[in-house]
Amino acid sequence: MPVHKHYGSNEIVARILAAIPWSESDGVALTASQLFPFDQLHGRELFATKEHSARLNPEIGAHLLDIGSGIGGPAGYFASMLGCRVTGIELTPDFIIVANELTSFCGMSDQANFVLADAASIQFKANTFDHAYCLYVGMNLPDKPAVLAECFRVLKPGATLIWTEVTSRSGVPHYPLPWSLTADGSHVDTSDTLCHHLSSAGFEVLTVEDETNAHLVLANRMKLSGKTPLVGQVQANEVVLGPDFVVRRQNYLKSLLEHLIASTLIVARKPQAEHVA
Ligand SMILES: C[S@@+](CC[C@H](N)C(=O)[O-])C[C@H]1O[C@@H](n2cnc3c(N)ncnc32)[C@H](O)[C@@H]1O
Repeated sequence: MPVHKHYGSNEIVARILAAIPWSESDGVALTASQLFPFDQLHGRELFATKEHSARLNPEIGAHLLDIGSGIGGPAGYFASMLGCRVTGIELTPDFIIVANELTSFCGMSDQANFVLADAASIQFKANTFDHAYCLYVGMNLPDKPAVLAECFRVLKPGATLIWTEVTSRSGVPHYPLPWSLTADGSHVDTSDTLCHHLSSAGFEVLTVEDETNAHLVLANRMKLSGKTPLVGQVQANEVVLGPDFVVRRQNYLKSLLEHLIASTLIVARKPQAEHVA
């Protein structure tokens, strides 16, 4: 199934707005933080975005590239909480519409905007962005070397790249998964392969971290508190991605638990100009 069909659907904005106490007719702008419970489309949702943004630690006013920006949740966090300007690129047209609409409701269109693009072919000039991040998109990228080459090209020398994705470990994961219903739409690599692709693109790999345990600990905490993602309660990602996301999340956690896959966080840097070949 093509990526845009896997993720996209109609009425996403309406479903999110039905879940939060806000109406355009109130005449008061929506805040980005009201959306955070529903717009972080990855495991550990806002917890992960907070941690990854702290790693990036961008300067106020920095211009960031968000690769595979989803419905704009992480961009909304970087813009509203850290004072950055964010350009998101995204392959799913429904998500571009949602991200731009929600950002406009929040009065943040000057700080965050979203354009339809394949990350393997980015339409921006070289050396445009101060930093970039790509949160849990790699599993959908069949040609990571092309994406990383483009990312390297559009970043300024000295820029930091935060890259998180699910990596393969010791076997075939359980399908359907959050990023694909079947194996043919899943492009997970080992973390070594990913590092190799980053280095080949010209990046200096600074740190590689296995964050699998953080996912499992959170899932267990939610289970103990009765907010378990394991028994089919509707949570944030279900509002956007549909009720069958419950099963997909279950399979994700099971595959992590059985060491079939891992969640990997990589911090990389584009070397300063004098070091770039
Ligand atoms: C799991 S979601 C993560 C969204 C967002 N990064 C977040 O964390 O909220 C993966 C996203 O990657 C997008 N995507 C997949 N392949 C892409 C590509 N080649 N170029 C741009 N976006 C892509 C999908 O449309 C989807 O929105």
